[in-house]
Amino acid sequence: MIDGNVNQPMERLDDWEESLHLRYPEPSGGKPSKTKEEFRNYEEASSTVREFYRLNHRFQTYDFVLAKEREYLPLRKTEMTVWEAMEFLNTLVDDSDPDTSLSQIEHLLQTSEAIRRDGHPRWFIFAGLVHDLGKVLCLFGEPQWAVVGDTFPVGCRFSEKIVFPEFFSENPDSSDPALSSPCGVYSEGCGLRNVHMSWGHDEYIYRVMKDRLPDEALYMLRYHSFYPAHREREYEHLMDDHDREMFEWVRKFNPYDLYSKGEEPPSVAALRPYYEDLIEEFAPGKLQW
Ligand SMILES: [Fe+2]
Ligand SMILES: [Fe+2]
Repeated sequence: MIDGNVNQPMERLDDWEESLHLRYPEPSGGKPSKTKEEFRNYEEASSTVREFYRLNHRFQTYDFVLAKEREYLPLRKTEMTVWEAMEFLNTLVDDSDPDTSLSQIEHLLQTSEAIRRDGHPRWFIFAGLVHDLGKVLCLFGEPQWAVVGDTFPVGCRFSEKIVFPEFFSENPDSSDPALSSPCGVYSEGCGLRNVHMSWGHDEYIYRVMKDRLPDEALYMLRYHSFYPAHREREYEHLMDDHDREMFEWVRKFNPYDLYSKGEEPPSVAALRPYYEDLIEEFAPGKLQW
């Protein structure tokens, strides 16, 4: 048993997202401006992010994921409107850099505003608005390693291209022959809908929004942290043609999540009427969480 502090190695939940920025400094398709070696230096410097991944890779087992799915996916924790969930998530106060870092609501609005500025459909803007609301898992007492971090399939071999692959040696599934072959419990081309992903905020918000949005938006929600697939092109042997088509939308979404930061923080009060309308269109009233 590990205690709460050890379980929450990062000072801020967003430290993970900042580490992504260093790992992927350019949008997909752009020229890489950071070499592998430079990133390795960063990894070594950032001991809290490293410790976060050590815990994530050790404890995200197939059994752990099935247990969390049974616990959360019936959506019986609470009822909230989308705006209430945004305000609830905003109570997650990170204690460093109050001047330079955005609040959770500001990150959501900055993402959706960047999508809106580029003239994308309303469901795409809505996906930007809600994509991180699954982080309320933190407020339900989940440790950082079960809320954020790159996601990856469990129940089959862990890809060597997942960040810090060496930490998977501490995951008991790595030494279980049934769970460590390339397809593991799945079959080739079975489609990602049949694959259990490491537990975190993506799967949770996908389930909350499941029947409300077009598939393109649902893929953005469900797989936006699946960097091993949308950036590293791993796990294609588990995908079907529909997944491959939809992943182009996940790739379209990613720059808005990662690279819309650092601009002026959006004005929450001024934007609220527009977004209340958008919420009314796609997910009105109290939702089950
Ligand atoms: Fe996210
Ligand atoms: Fe995000």
